[in-house]
Amino acid sequence: MAESKSRKVIERNIAMELMRATESAAMAAARFLGRGDKNLVDGTAVATMRNVMSYIRMDGVVVIGEGEKDNAPMLYIGEHIGDGFALQADIAVDPIDGTTLVARGLPGAISVIVLSERGTIHCPSQFFYMDKIVTSAEAKNCIDINASVAENLENIARAKKRKVSELTVIVLDRPRHEKLLFDIRSAGARVKLISDGDIAASLQAAMPGMEVDVLMGIGGTPEGVISAAAIHCIGGAIQCKAWPRNEEERKAAIAAGVDVDKVYKTEDLIDSDDVFFAATGVSSGELLKGVRYFSGGAYTQSLVMRSQSGTIRWIDSRHNFGRLDKVGFFKMR
Ligand code: FBP
Repeated sequence: MAESKSRKVIERNIAMELMRATESAAMAAARFLGRGDKNLVDGTAVATMRNVMSYIRMDGVVVIGEGEKDNAPMLYIGEHIGDGFALQADIAVDPIDGTTLVARGLPGAISVIVLSERGTIHCPSQFFYMDKIVTSAEAKNCIDINASVAENLENIARAKKRKVSELTVIVLDRPRHEKLLFDIRSAGARVKLISDGDIAASLQAAMPGMEVDVLMGIGGTPEGVISAAAIHCIGGAIQCKAWPRNEEERKAAIAAGVDVDKVYKTEDLIDSDDVFFAATGVSSGELLKGVRYFSGGAYTQSLVMRSQSGTIRWIDSRHNFGRLDKVGFFKMR
């Protein structure tokens, strides 16, 4: 087939390579399930993910990672990752979304990587939190984060040809959501509270055929951007708005010229038609099964997506630690 010179296409499905990194991070960190040590879980996942990513043929720059260089030794913002050749890309990582879930042995923690062309992942990092609403493709044109909860739920129910009482809204269980929960319950919808992990929750809301129809509420800003990348692949919709923690954060953003009232849609957060997403379950949840060890290895389940093709792959893998050690790729024992 003749190659179009004008078309800027990432030639390979690099999401499959990213998955090796999320699988490795998940397998390494899941060893510490329920051991009560968040730092051990996170540190293990970060080191393992970074090691595996260093083998990938790309010149990636971390735009969402473990924080600023001074505070994070690895996967810090601005760090170049990959073998330095070929593909210039933006990388967003969350080695574990739900470190507390893993530390406490609770369901729903995942390991995630997003890759997109250089300069196309935009994280409004002036804000620690954003208010979010997420739903699936059927109702993608019916949500408005500035509208009332009742109005959004009625519009989503109409688009899905259901009653509001047949919708399930997933919400992070936080004191800041007291009014939101009151409004959802008053509207008559079902509620699913989760203690952590709003990336997996956003994916459940965007993915057709899941028990969850909508995600509402305030969660981390980076998690919102990573969710937007996944939603771009799946075909649902996300809208986010800054939720300054205090007056100081609000004023600092305004002083930096940031519009505090801006509504961020998918394309404002991920400005590319070629986005790659890989996630692996760490502790079993509704989206993905967690890591299950057997003698000499482990099973993992991953979700691998590319926005350009719209292909969504659920990949069940069986890993043989002895052979992986021999290949010298990463140590799993
Ligand atoms: P971590 O794994 O980084 O702890 O994040 C978990 C998480 O639940 C996110 O999924 C969510 O966006 C955020 O924390 C919510 O923040 P907070 O716990 O401060 O309400």
